[in-house]
Amino acid sequence: MSVVALVPAAGRGLRLGEQIPKAFVELGGRTMLARAVDGLRKSGAVDRVVVIVPPELLGSVKADLGRSHDVDVVAGGAERTDSVRAGLEAAGDAEFVLVHDAARALTPPAMIARVVAELKAGSAAVIPVLPVTDTIKSVDVLGMVTGTPLRSELRAVQTPQGFSTQVLREAYDAGDLAATDDASLVERLGVSVQTIAGEAHAFKITTPLDLVLARALLDADS
Ligand code: C5P
Repeated sequence: MSVVALVPAAGRGLRLGEQIPKAFVELGGRTMLARAVDGLRKSGAVDRVVVIVPPELLGSVKADLGRSHDVDVVAGGAERTDSVRAGLEAAGDAEFVLVHDAARALTPPAMIARVVAELKAGSAAVIPVLPVTDTIKSVDVLGMVTGTPLRSELRAVQTPQGFSTQVLREAYDAGDLAATDDASLVERLGVSVQTIAGEAHAFKITTPLDLVLARALLDADS
């Protein structure tokens, strides 16, 4: 029952305000991408990692992370889903696939192992989630509130998201790829998605403030 983890890292990450693609920003002397790959390996639950990078960085990442026997590096596309599709093509005959996010560089390995355990226990799709602390409103284009979903029923979704490889490939073959996570594509097929407890440290490093927090957490650990 082999498990391949896909790490899409081909985005520009403009919200972080850095000049280089987000996954290649350094945290404590190592790129977010290298740390995300490390976490997947340390989980002990992943057999192979496929890293998906901007085409112009293919050579340099191959020469670095790609030297490891259990890491493959492929070129990504214009949209996140194009990059995940490229990773799925490189996943071969893996039974399960995880889709992680290079920006969740500090994800605890134990949480990754829990996602895989739930897949092996029989779930076709598994996502780590946290309760939401803010009240969330929907708004229209003019900024007027159109609704207030019940907070107790909302969850913030993290990665890695785990899938039966066959199910995720079916979801990608179904066509409509407009979505901000992979589980949404699988939900459209009518497949049940199992949630498990996420972790605060698996937060997505998206804004300059997130970067300050990530660096402070690393300093506190060293
Ligand atoms: O833009 P967002 O933060 O949702 O991106 C999530 C992940 O998808 C990031 O790790 C980013 O590098 C990756 N991505 C990608 N290819 C794209 C766009 C985003 O691999 N074209």
